[in-house]
Amino acid sequence: MNIGIRNETAADYRIVEELAREAFWGNMNHPTCDGEHLLIHKLRNSPSFVPELDFVAEVEGNVVGHIIYSLAKVMTPDDREIEVLNFGPLSVHPNYKRMGVGSALMRHSIAVAAKLGYRAIIFYGHPDYYPRFGFRRASRYGIVSADGGSWDALMAMELYKGALDGITGRYIEDEVYEVDPEEMAEFEKEFPHKEPVQLPPVEILTNQLPERVKQTFAQHGIKYISQLQRFSGAELLNWDGMNEQLLAKINGILSQLGQPTKLPPSSYILQLAELGVRYPVCSLIRTKAGISLYRVESEGKKFILKVFEKQEDARKIQNYLLLSKLEIPTLPLLGYTKNAILLPDVETCDEYRLGKESDV
Ligand SMILES: CC(C)(COP(=O)(O)OP(=O)(O)OC[C@H]1O[C@@H](n2cnc3c(N)ncnc32)[C@H](O)[C@@H]1OP(=O)(O)O)[C@@H](O)C(=O)NCCC(=O)NCCS
Repeated sequence: MNIGIRNETAADYRIVEELAREAFWGNMNHPTCDGEHLLIHKLRNSPSFVPELDFVAEVEGNVVGHIIYSLAKVMTPDDREIEVLNFGPLSVHPNYKRMGVGSALMRHSIAVAAKLGYRAIIFYGHPDYYPRFGFRRASRYGIVSADGGSWDALMAMELYKGALDGITGRYIEDEVYEVDPEEMAEFEKEFPHKEPVQLPPVEILTNQLPERVKQTFAQHGIKYISQLQRFSGAELLNWDGMNEQLLAKINGILSQLGQPTKLPPSSYILQLAELGVRYPVCSLIRTKAGISLYRVESEGKKFILKVFEKQEDARKIQNYLLLSKLEIPTLPLLGYTKNAILLPDVETCDEYRLGKESDV
């Protein structure tokens, strides 16, 4: 499928608002679209709007996706205001979901934002979707919500190395994001009637889990399955009664229900985000005895990522660290996490050509 990305024009405005309405309809914890179309409508007239980063995705001449950016700030403890980018809503038409449209919009807009010289992108979103583009929990940079909260759903990405060094504080987005329910109801009247969705109750999932976990989900206010998108797999694992086996079971049920699955903490996506690898393209080379090798391409560079899924194997990372400290000419370790190491791809990287068969 060919996905074209271009800037939104005034001729797209209503088409995009209808698209956002479709994309968000019954998608989270709300049986309608919860004002996301109104938000786009208002954002375009806000001083924080960034027109250069307002993109639509087209397939065969039809607009099937949209992303919009705005300016936001980090208020540092010494009262400095640091300008950053925020984005959202990101909308993909339901008929085109899981076909790479959202990814194409993300990759394109991040690359343009970096080219335009912006410092960083910070936003609230689905915490198990965006790490695949290189986003990390904002609190890893010391950045928290306006009232000091911290969740995996508040994410950040530097647009150049060290962009967030020494920048901590409270993240403040444009107040246009606080949509007034009355204004929303009024705006909704401009669109053709659409029946609110019956959201699938979480019991479909929790009835298959231990009673203790069922209670935990209720304590966290989860009424509908779609609400789980707000939490990362890592956060779910911290909930009372949860463990990795149950997370795998939940993922199995979510897949059956056609819902997005949760990332386990050892996921290669999270390792790459942790290593600061931006919008990687990955392919699995092999998985053997809980150790997986991935070929990774990011911003014109090629790497190999080795992921150790079992904790006992993850200790092997210490051996790599030791070797690199001894300065024995082994493969250079480009980075490591608790579960993975990042190496250059010797097959394709001219810098490390030693030992290639073709050199003999
Ligand atoms: C979320 C959304 C933008 C993703 O766009 P998309 O074009 O469907 O996504 P892509 O094709 O690029 O990526 C698909 C992958 O992302 C995963 N994914 C999609 N939504 C996800 C979510 N909420 N949480 C975790 N993973 C998610 C899919 O499971 C799929 O994984 P796979 O590659 O392992 O199969 C789109 O589904 C959408 O418009 N949703 C409704 C509106 C919304 O929630 N917007 C985002 C608000 S933060």
